[in-house]
Amino acid sequence: MNEKGKSPGFPYIAEHIFAPIYPVIAAHIVEQSGIKQGICLDMGCGIASLGIAVAEITEMQVYGVDFSTDMCRLSKDKAHRHCLSGRVVPVQADVHLLPFRDNCAALIVSRGSVFFWKDLPVAFTEISRVLAPGGQAWIGGGFGTKELKAQISEKMVEIDPDWHAASKKRLSPENFQAMQEAGRQTEILCRVIQDDSGFWMVLSKGG
Ligand SMILES: C[S@@+](CC[C@H](N)C(=O)[O-])C[C@H]1O[C@@H](n2cnc3c(N)ncnc32)[C@H](O)[C@@H]1O
Repeated sequence: MNEKGKSPGFPYIAEHIFAPIYPVIAAHIVEQSGIKQGICLDMGCGIASLGIAVAEITEMQVYGVDFSTDMCRLSKDKAHRHCLSGRVVPVQADVHLLPFRDNCAALIVSRGSVFFWKDLPVAFTEISRVLAPGGQAWIGGGFGTKELKAQISEKMVEIDPDWHAASKKRLSPENFQAMQEAGRQTEILCRVIQDDSGFWMVLSKGG
């Protein structure tokens, strides 16, 4: 809580509490996918922390997609602070209607946003449309490692006593099933990873 008894907003949380997870998650996805070139889309990017972490370890051109004007402004500022203006570019758009051409993105990453998408089959269809042949989309959530998750949970409970309940709800069996069904109906290969790195649906488009 801040001095007015209010929970800080997501930009503060991403910058001050979640900060260590993004390089770990980016390294995991880049290592597992082997994708380091081309276009990367960070869907529901918030302040583009994950997209920036991908740009820092690859040669990828990153577009941070978020429907919030504030998040797009903050992600532009953050890219500038990381000397990545032009390499990480905000695009204000809804995941359900993406302003990108078919088959354009070598890598799609999305952390902690899927739980807010209103129509999973439509969003997943859009993601599979813009994914390039040979590309991968990593959609899910998590904190990178068991240790980071424990550290962050401890800090989050201090500012939000309902943190554990809310996390559990996001990964309820119903939500989990709806995400899997949305992945399956894209008709591209979809596997689920649930381990210490987090929960990920990995969509792979045949090359
Ligand atoms: C919990 S934040 C996660 C941000 C970021 N991915 C991270 O891990 O730091 C969820 C973000 O998803 C965005 N979002 C939710 N639904 C969206 C949609 N349909 N299209 C685009 N962005 C969306 C929100 O504006 C918010 O910035």
